[in-house]
Amino acid sequence: MDWCHNESFRSADALSTAAETDEEELDFSKVDKPRGLERCKSCEVRSLSELAKVSENSSHPVEHLENAVSLLPKSITNTPGALVLDPHPHLHSHPIVSEGWEALRRSLVYFRGQPVGTIAALDSSDEKVNYDQVFVRDFVPSALAFLMNGEPDIVRNFILKTLRLQSWEKKIDRFHLAEGVMPASFKVFHDPVRNRETLIADFGESAIGRVAPIDSGFWWIILLRAYTKSTGDTSLAELPECQKGMHLILNLCLSEGFDTFPTLLCADGCCMIDRRMGVYGYPIEIQALFFMALRCALQLLKQDTEGKEFMERIARRLHALSYHLRSYFWLDSKQLNDVYRFKTEEYSHTAVNKFNVIPDSLPDWIFDFMPLNGGYFVGNVSPARMDFRWFCLGNCIAILSSLATPEQSIAIMDLIESRWLALIGEMPLKVCYPALEKHEWQIITGCDPKNTRWSYHNGGSWPVLLWLLAAASIKTGRPHIAKRALEIAETRLVKDNWPEYYDGKLGRYIGKQARKSQTWSIAGYLVAKMMLEDPSHLGMVAIEDDKHQKPVLRRSNSL
Ligand code: GLC
Repeated sequence: MDWCHNESFRSADALSTAAETDEEELDFSKVDKPRGLERCKSCEVRSLSELAKVSENSSHPVEHLENAVSLLPKSITNTPGALVLDPHPHLHSHPIVSEGWEALRRSLVYFRGQPVGTIAALDSSDEKVNYDQVFVRDFVPSALAFLMNGEPDIVRNFILKTLRLQSWEKKIDRFHLAEGVMPASFKVFHDPVRNRETLIADFGESAIGRVAPIDSGFWWIILLRAYTKSTGDTSLAELPECQKGMHLILNLCLSEGFDTFPTLLCADGCCMIDRRMGVYGYPIEIQALFFMALRCALQLLKQDTEGKEFMERIARRLHALSYHLRSYFWLDSKQLNDVYRFKTEEYSHTAVNKFNVIPDSLPDWIFDFMPLNGGYFVGNVSPARMDFRWFCLGNCIAILSSLATPEQSIAIMDLIESRWLALIGEMPLKVCYPALEKHEWQIITGCDPKNTRWSYHNGGSWPVLLWLLAAASIKTGRPHIAKRALEIAETRLVKDNWPEYYDGKLGRYIGKQARKSQTWSIAGYLVAKMMLEDPSHLGMVAIEDDKHQKPVLRRSNSL
């Protein structure tokens, strides 16, 4: 089979092999359809304004978020193709919302007549780059938008299609990747000779840096739970192939090796930040997604023999992971002062400075950035190294997954509020703070011209992150934070044609190499907007703390 028609898949050695044609084709009709579109809402009814009122007067997170529902029914009206009359048209009359939906629908990708995902960007100005593909991580906000809009079919198709891609043989040069690896992206290839559509997937072999995406498998599990939660349809997750897909992903990340930490050791570029940016080691983005995916898997795994074994392994890992991340990654003004006064060269188990972090490695900016009230999970912790940068995605996922304790969640939001200009600025939301400059930029990025200071992954501002901010601020009972950020974004997004990212300390400028019509910018905005209108959507992407930290001990361990 000749895959090489595609610009971005030229390297003949670095190809993933697909089972040919029909065998590889998935019959979507064989999979049970969800039981209707209604979601399970509790009878406790609260409007967003009520919720906001409560939250403005208190700093306590919304309790039982999954029961916090608004009076507003889900609208599927002002979106093209929707059939139901909107009982609350004023809420959806915002022209940006209509434009967003139109743009999102234009980005749909079909495979043999079925919608299976959304293209990364509709901007065709530079064909060589890989924005004409469906990225797993990019599809998540699109999927949430469709789920919130009562259109789960595309999400189900995507989940099943990517599952089939997972089962491909994955080979880079002469090296085989593990079975569980999920692709970073895929595209539909129209074979003109056979007049047939096939899929081409990239497991990292075509990506810059040739790194496999560790986040894809985690997002896949998180999405499977969002689908299940949103539709009430458990039959998809219960399919043997979905259970197997989960087992394979879990096997990969729960396997034991040389590690002395429960966190996952990663290569630079294995997540949203997919170029060299000094996020190798134990990046918070992956650790938080790992934690969230484990918690989602606990809800999705069947209680058969294999499933139960995984559940035990997950419980033990969550126990260790939450302890490690909450203790060693957490930084607030007290902890900062402790690090500042750290002793070094401590050997025994009584050591306080366990990783031998040298206080001189504290960067100057941290002392001004850290507010008295507030804190965050730092970017990375490994031997003699703390990456003190603030990363948006990891901190928001920490809140959503309840990796952050209620106090830590409040502190993360406190920090965002008190560092508003730096993190939200004129266009939300910084992917990380601060930017690497000069010598540091040279050494850490390898002089990457795309990641110059305050651009792209290096302190650029990404509208897609709005959905995470919205979810985190609703979960902590402070929706006004996201509302304010969204109002700022609305002044520019459509006018600028949904750029991928913005540049500058304040995010004022459309990014140097930013694509236009970037799908996850569109979907990220729509999801944030829908969640603020109807906070009950939050249950899809958030998990309450259920004291999961108690591991199930095997008999031999407990003696
Ligand atoms: C860039 C981003 C990556 C995203 C991809 C498609 O490579 O860094 O996170 O998935 O574009 O939008």
